[in-house]
Amino acid sequence: SFIIFNGDITDRQNAKVDIEDRGYQFGDGIYEVVRIYNGHPFALTAHIERFFESAAKIQMDISYSKEKIESLIYALLDKEGKSTASLYLQYSRGISVRNHVIPKNINGTLVGYLLDGERPVALMENGVSAIIAADTRWLHCDIKSISLLGNILAKSKAVEAGCTEAILHRDQIVTEGSSTNIWIVQDGELITHPANNLILNGITRQQLIMIATQHDMPYTEKSFTVTELLHADEVFLTSTTLEIVPITIIDGKKIGNGKPGAITKELQKLFTLSIE
Ligand code: PDD
Repeated sequence: SFIIFNGDITDRQNAKVDIEDRGYQFGDGIYEVVRIYNGHPFALTAHIERFFESAAKIQMDISYSKEKIESLIYALLDKEGKSTASLYLQYSRGISVRNHVIPKNINGTLVGYLLDGERPVALMENGVSAIIAADTRWLHCDIKSISLLGNILAKSKAVEAGCTEAILHRDQIVTEGSSTNIWIVQDGELITHPANNLILNGITRQQLIMIATQHDMPYTEKSFTVTELLHADEVFLTSTTLEIVPITIIDGKKIGNGKPGAITKELQKLFTLSIE
């Protein structure tokens, strides 16, 4: 298979990353996941913008222009010829003798490739269960950092409990999921955590806010508690790969009647229309 590697498209076997690449040693890098629908990248401009914003927040200059990265992505899609997939794009600080201090004037390592994955139709229809877990991550969750230890530990805890996602909280305030944004529906109103340093401002989240605005569906970006989560009429998650998935059981307790809610289903319909 083919990959984007430092400004070119090459065979995956040809790409080698140095043991002193700072992405490998320090988790010093950033990434994006972009959905490919019908062979086309969805919301690519927004993803590339966030890619550069994440880099800027860690004082990292990306040595390729936005236009160059876009053209590499289209070249990769052309070579791979896949209809539905996810693009993984990563930029690490690059190679330097091990030292915590951020080195100046080095070129980073750019990697991009396609992951297989159909739209999660069964999960979207049936909903999933989740656990509640402490958000033990750092205070820069707005950066799409490749340092994901807090996220992977929480996700694995959820899967060990037979669930799909871990809903994270800081002092009883729900932040987001281990790899998703979390929403509740309360008396017909959509509520999700404000886009500050405690969450990743998801592209799917932004798309949903746009849809809600267009269709006069009331929404608020404000904090809500674990208790409000458990007593919500509906709960759902959003992400690039999962889209909109109802959460019907949390810590073994049913949300509402334990079935995907009407507003969640309406949003799924509108989202599907927006990707076509
Ligand atoms: N995860 N919050 C976190 C912590 C995430 O990792 C993600 C995405 C989201 C949703 O963002 P978006 O709608 O832009 O995908 C929220 C990606 C898909 C991943 O790591 O695989």
